[in-house]
Amino acid sequence: MLVSAKEMLNKAVSGKYAVGQFNINNLEWTKAILLTAQEMKSPVILGVSEGAGKYMGGYKTVVGMVNGMLEELNITVPVALHLDHGSFDGAKACIAAGFSSVMFDGSHYPIDENIAKTKELIEICNEKGLSLEAEVGSIGGEEDGVIGTGECADPDECKMIADLGVTMLAAGIGNIHGKYPDNWEGLSFETLAAIKEKVGELPLVLHGGTGIPEDMIKKAISLGVAKINVNTECQWAFQAATRKYIEEGKDLEGKGFDPRKLLAPGFEAIKATVKEKMELFGSVNKA
Ligand code: 13P
Repeated sequence: MLVSAKEMLNKAVSGKYAVGQFNINNLEWTKAILLTAQEMKSPVILGVSEGAGKYMGGYKTVVGMVNGMLEELNITVPVALHLDHGSFDGAKACIAAGFSSVMFDGSHYPIDENIAKTKELIEICNEKGLSLEAEVGSIGGEEDGVIGTGECADPDECKMIADLGVTMLAAGIGNIHGKYPDNWEGLSFETLAAIKEKVGELPLVLHGGTGIPEDMIKKAISLGVAKINVNTECQWAFQAATRKYIEEGKDLEGKGFDPRKLLAPGFEAIKATVKEKMELFGSVNKA
């Protein structure tokens, strides 16, 4: 059964580790992440962007697929199904479809509007026992054409959103989605510490987990980060393994064209990446 992310993240804060959010794109991705979480005895959060939800056939399709796998693959570790960077309407649609957790990304709204919309969604989530992630200080990246240092959140604004009763808070600390530019200055631990100081035990979320050096990940966890989002790195792993398979001409040998064979190296590569991240984040054996 899907669970809210609340309990697993509160445990992560007190145990000083982080739970990985791995974004899913299709059946192979979902199965690879769930099986790895079970093998590692790690809690896990499956992230679904609005685009990926549409790609997979809609939110209800995603809920059906994930629930089916939990049951038929005997997944017993805590799993949350979470909308990533949701709009206000997207969050409502995911709640109706059966997601156990949603992110409302109101970071592009003026703070008052971000607060009002976040508040409304908190009420709905509380009623249904779901978790809600809010965002302050937008996280740049290729999607919105920003390549450079990500924006740093204002700690006072973080406190205003935290006080509404969100489950977890994504705050920009110089992190961006996708590949970090060569001149990236690294995470702003000063900002992170200032936010932590204001929000206390509230689990903090680090987006853009791909390509952040290990020492920075560990330091971020020590300063209150309890959820780390990884997407691009699984895509690269899948791409490299699939490219190798084709370049070696394996698809031309025997039944190598069978999608179950063609997608198998990419599937294994996602598993290896997820395992590596769970070890780095410290969530192994925490289920
Ligand atoms: P990356 O694609 O950089 O790993 O970021 C993932 C993310 O933050 C999803 O919200």
